[in-house]
Amino acid sequence: MGRKKNQKAKGEATDRLPLFEGAATSEVGMPRKRHYRQRAHANPLSIHHLEYPPSPAQMDWSTHFPAFFEPPTAEGQGSKNLKGKKVEFADVGCGFGGLSISLAPLFPETLMLGLEIRVQVTQYVSDKIRALRLNPGSVDPDNAEDVAAAAAEGTAHPEDEPAAKRQKVEAKDAKKSKVRGIKPELMPPEGYAYDNVSVLRANAMKFLPNFFEKGQLSKIFFLFPDPHFKARKHKARIISPTLLAEYAYVLRPGGLLYTITDVPDLHIWMTSHIGAFPLFQRLTDEEIDNIGLTSGEGVVGYEGSDLQRERERAVMEAVKKRTEEGRKVERNQGGKEWSVWRRLPDPE
Ligand SMILES: C[S@@+](CC[C@H](N)C(=O)[O-])C[C@H]1O[C@@H](n2cnc3c(N)ncnc32)[C@H](O)[C@@H]1O
Repeated sequence: MGRKKNQKAKGEATDRLPLFEGAATSEVGMPRKRHYRQRAHANPLSIHHLEYPPSPAQMDWSTHFPAFFEPPTAEGQGSKNLKGKKVEFADVGCGFGGLSISLAPLFPETLMLGLEIRVQVTQYVSDKIRALRLNPGSVDPDNAEDVAAAAAEGTAHPEDEPAAKRQKVEAKDAKKSKVRGIKPELMPPEGYAYDNVSVLRANAMKFLPNFFEKGQLSKIFFLFPDPHFKARKHKARIISPTLLAEYAYVLRPGGLLYTITDVPDLHIWMTSHIGAFPLFQRLTDEEIDNIGLTSGEGVVGYEGSDLQRERERAVMEAVKKRTEEGRKVERNQGGKEWSVWRRLPDPE
């Protein structure tokens, strides 16, 4: 049975650590994936012990977004919203967090959350965000493009350098260096420090409406979801008619749902189920290219900006190439198929 967040066992640690508790490493430098080994797959139908709030209003977001929320003052209450912001992007099955981490600086005023079921993978993303908050220009040592860019800038540091020294020098460099991989015109403002991105260990197939209100999200991503090839395992697929009703509930009318996969059969499965659901309409290639120009689809707070379309194109680029799975498919020169869907207004 699931365990509601406000029903914590007596004696359980209540210390507030930013983000996810119990880091796998004590370092605050960029984490290495090899320290976060975990089975390749988790069975979402057999994980039952995850915490969730009784309702979105009772969720404590302060550990995820301390710059935006203050901790609750009483048991059973939610965190105090300091800036009137709510999570708007959900990256479902975020894996190692490549999408959310690359979108965060593009939308510095938008809160985004990766949802991941595997504990060590969630921990990795949490540690990576923590390191980026401390040093926004940190180099991801597992990302060849990042390392090459840093080498070209002269901000890379050899791995055999003592960790303490490396972190000190990197921290100094980070102040000078900009967020990587973003066009200059889309750079976040000076002082940007990844406060708007976090990760939550959760089973996205359960309790999504406990975390998000009706119509709260403007984007929901399903990027390279686990294919669950065998027919008897299809019920574990993250897109299904029942779950689509939940996704439509948390996504606002005009909001966008994105899918991408390198498994042709899964692409057919996802697009046929979403296509059969009355509240989603598929965007044509031309519409995908023009996201941001049409009213109602933009991200709250960025409407009407000249850069809106540019930013949305960067989102599509990230969907295709910025996740770890996307990079792997790219390296192996595999094919990818994607789709983008507009959440239609509720019928009268
Ligand atoms: C193939 S990986 C893709 C990761 C990432 N989206 C990417 O493109 O690199 C799928 C991820 O979804 C996670 N996952 C599977 N079922 C899930 C669920 N019900 N809730 C949350 N995460 C889930 C898995 O643990 C895995 O990390």
